[in-house]
Amino acid sequence: MAFISGELLNEISMANDIVDYASSFMQLKKSGRGYMACCPFHNEKTPSFHIDRDKQLFHCFGCGASGNFVQLVMRLEGLDFHDAIKQMAERAGIVIPENGVREVNEITRKKERIYEMNKIAARFFYDTLMDPEKGRAGREYFAARRLSRKTVIRFGLGYSPDSYDALLAVLKSRGYTDNQIVEAGLAVPGKRGAYDKFRGRVMFPIINARGKIIGFGGRILGSEKLPDGKRLAKYLNSPETPAFDKGSNLFALNLAKHSNEKDIILCEGYMDVITVHQAGISNCVATLGTAITEAQAKLMLRYGREILICYDMDEAGTKAALRAIDIIASAGGKSRVIRITGAKDPDEFITKYGVSGFKKAIDKAMPSTEFRISLIKREFDLNDTEGKVRFVEETAKILAGLSDPVEVEAYIKRTVTDTGISEQSIFGKYKEIKGKEKKPMPARDRETFRRRELNRVNTDKAPEEKVTSTMLEAEKRILSLMSKSRHLCMRAYDIMKPEEFSTAVYIKLAELIHKESQAGGIIEPASIINEFSGNTESENLAGAVFFNREEYSDEEKTLYDLIYTVKLNKLDTKIKAAMDPREIGELLKQKSNLAAERRSWPTNI
Ligand code: UTP
Ligand code: MN
Repeated sequence: MAFISGELLNEISMANDIVDYASSFMQLKKSGRGYMACCPFHNEKTPSFHIDRDKQLFHCFGCGASGNFVQLVMRLEGLDFHDAIKQMAERAGIVIPENGVREVNEITRKKERIYEMNKIAARFFYDTLMDPEKGRAGREYFAARRLSRKTVIRFGLGYSPDSYDALLAVLKSRGYTDNQIVEAGLAVPGKRGAYDKFRGRVMFPIINARGKIIGFGGRILGSEKLPDGKRLAKYLNSPETPAFDKGSNLFALNLAKHSNEKDIILCEGYMDVITVHQAGISNCVATLGTAITEAQAKLMLRYGREILICYDMDEAGTKAALRAIDIIASAGGKSRVIRITGAKDPDEFITKYGVSGFKKAIDKAMPSTEFRISLIKREFDLNDTEGKVRFVEETAKILAGLSDPVEVEAYIKRTVTDTGISEQSIFGKYKEIKGKEKKPMPARDRETFRRRELNRVNTDKAPEEKVTSTMLEAEKRILSLMSKSRHLCMRAYDIMKPEEFSTAVYIKLAELIHKESQAGGIIEPASIINEFSGNTESENLAGAVFFNREEYSDEEKTLYDLIYTVKLNKLDTKIKAAMDPREIGELLKQKSNLAAERRSWPTNI
């Protein structure tokens, strides 16, 4: 196994989860957006080892160990790169072929084949629905649900005949084998051969953002309760296949991505989404019969500014909404909750209150924090002293998880109005809980860590090239900002070229981030860090960049300030090291030029 293609490498990493893996080696505790533990690479009693599940990276603020998933496996188990990959592949049940590439092509081919089969199946379900005889039951069902013909066509809805081999026969006549049809999730294996999975159901094709049919949901025509007290699954969904990953796709995203609305509405059910679209609101999607994942949250955030959660108003729906709020927050996004009071789900709400009623509900969508507070408010009696105390405590817990101080203050003020308890006391409670939650590393350790990092960077450097800790910290922040968005990356690149960074690792990082941004790609820290595999020092230095958790109110201005700091610092170091008066004069001139140049940088202040 000399070579593993990037695609396979990606697939192996995606199939594993760094948190899962690490939890068998250490005691992990949830902390903010990630996890914390005592570092396995140095001796410590208070945890400073962080894992970022999102980015699939680890970083120790104590000893500086840092890297991606593969690198963690390598270090924890003392394996080389290939053996670590092999181990991860085994964990995920992925077979690495001899040349490391063939399998990828095989997977791609399989996917393509499933797309083709799904397309044939969708056509078949649609034709069946439209067939005067065979499709009557399905058409009557959709009519009863008030779906127009236009909507049926728009969503490519269909009907699967109540037969064990109708679709099978079609696919076989097109040359597909039983095995392939089962693999696509369109048939199930039985004792006497494969038979159709979807029978006598109305069919909802699930189409990804690229327009490929990746799977189906099939709904029974009536109620799921059978006369003899048994129940039938209301929806049958395609199983996970190489083409169908339920956790990273969304129903109707292929349509919603073209909407001009700035937010994305998230519903629970296929029928909800369809009714909302039929009402002329096309920025609406749903998960695929499973709870929302972080990947789905990120996908929505790619197309919408905020996510408007529109779940059922019952207890299950409320719980699911709370979970969605958390997941969206850990994906770095904001959410609101659309409350459809007076109906069990959005579908019923629109039927009852019309499009205008639903639009009003959208406009009144509640910010997620307010929603969470409103839920706990219901639990306590605010006329009762004890009730007030408990309510304040629970509210403070919610606020302790927020990062925006303005938001915190606004909600504290509201709580003052709600309870009559003073702002000071509530703020005190909030600070107390916040302090308990995040125990920052002792300043002394942080200092030691920085000094060590700095020493490593400065080995073999001439005096005029020496990096100061201000420079190192600033450069780290610049890179971290550059990785955040294409816009920031380009702005930085305009005034600071990769080679101006002061260590080889940062230069390479700046180049990689810039290259990826320019190509329009998303910056995946884990794969960028792969480029540094094999050299622990470099891995550590590169990994630390992506662990900058600071939030800036004005990122662009911060970026310019940081770049100026670095440039200025560099000149000062040179001036300090210079002996020749003429050289010093030259450097001083450069310094005043820098100040002038700065005034020409396009700041938005
Ligand atoms: P709902 O029961 O709310 O379905 O389940 P719905 O789409 O609103 O359909 P109607 O109005 O009852 O016809 C929400 C989602 O949960 C998944 C489906 O994705 C469904 O759209 N689900 C539900 C299943 O996967 N299996 C089930 O048996 C039920
Ligand atoms: Mn429904």
